[in-house]
Amino acid sequence: MAGEVGVVPALIGKARFDPASTFAFVCGPEVMLRFTATALLGAGLPPARILFWMERNMKCVFGFCGHCQFGPDFICRDGPVLPYGRLAGRLRAREI
Ligand code: FES
Repeated sequence: MAGEVGVVPALIGKARFDPASTFAFVCGPEVMLRFTATALLGAGLPPARILFWMERNMKCVFGFCGHCQFGPDFICRDGPVLPYGRLAGRLRAREI
């Protein structure tokens, strides 16, 4: 096997990228999203360039059932890709 192996947040420090011209698209469990965002922020990426794929608990996908609600956002209606800056406080509040 070639390349790095490990959890994503730990690998961010080994990745080479220019924070001024990079976007990060992150998907996975919310705890991993939080730690990956912390690593990306530490590497100099602005919060607006960290985008989370939040496709979670969708059922109706029309904004009617509320299964995907995350604070004031309905992931099916407002996402499913949302910037870290919009979700940061809510992710920190949810200790999973
Ligand atoms: S999936 Fe039903 S409101 Fe989003």
